[in-house]
Amino acid sequence: MNASTLPDISTHVEAGVMTLTINRLARKNSITAAMYAAMADALESAKNDAAVRALVIQGHETIFSAGNDIGDFLMQPPSKPDAPVFRFLYGISSFPKPIVAAVCGPAVGIGTTMLLHCDLVYAGDNAAFSMPFVNLGLCPEAASSLLTSRLMGYHRAAEALLLGEPFMAEAALEMGLINRIVPPAEVNALAQQQALKLAAKPLSALMETKRLMKKGHAASIAERIGEEAASFGRMLGEPAAREAFTAFMEKRKPDFSGV
Ligand code: COA
Repeated sequence: MNASTLPDISTHVEAGVMTLTINRLARKNSITAAMYAAMADALESAKNDAAVRALVIQGHETIFSAGNDIGDFLMQPPSKPDAPVFRFLYGISSFPKPIVAAVCGPAVGIGTTMLLHCDLVYAGDNAAFSMPFVNLGLCPEAASSLLTSRLMGYHRAAEALLLGEPFMAEAALEMGLINRIVPPAEVNALAQQQALKLAAKPLSALMETKRLMKKGHAASIAERIGEEAASFGRMLGEPAAREAFTAFMEKRKPDFSGV
């Protein structure tokens, strides 16, 4: 057994499974640059550690993640390709071993888009998924502009990305974003159980199967992450995003009439 604890991201390795927990409840598990760096480091270590055969990503029974920490994003916008958020996105999208996600409560922005790169996703009946990038004056990230259409069809993806409204676990199940819905108190245990099953299988066969399943998509996903990142970085400094973020900090509705 091996455990490490970073401020808001904790990792724990046991029985071939690394469990990464997002644990910043006071800020609704929103993710700062330092947390992205810790998550990227954990992925790198899980990839290289022969003792890790499967990865679980989980939040809390009440919230998976409120997405990017808005204040942190304003203070240190990810402008370079090696910014922690991009290290995390490239890391998770090319992670060679199985990833199991356990999602309860709101999964906002990257809280939803990271799931597109997980292999098995289990959700509580309180899970609420949303990709409100347009409402923040931004564009999608994590190759979600590509992968949502592939997963759910263009029109449902357009509804999710252009309107940015939350959709619940039942809709996510129907779209194929998640595998199963269980009571919130059972989600983390189910994810562990499935990860333990994976960890007992031959790792070489798991990795080769995942590689073959993803072959043909890997280059286009990496390219789209890069293209989205360039737009996202530029848009962060533009008036629409500034108004959206300022409105969030001031706890008021944004006024997009001038942008
Ligand atoms: N970044 C920074 N702080 C955040 C945050 C975020 N993404 N999400 C929530 N918080 C903070 C709130 O400002 C609040 O702080 P306060 O206690 O100082 O007022 C605290 O966390 C609790 O949030 P609150 O909104 O009161 O919780 P809730 O349970 O009513 O709602 C959410 C939870 C996730 C639905 C809601 O917080 C939300 O929509 N957050 C913004 C999501 C978002 O737009 N993310 C960016 C995606 S790119």
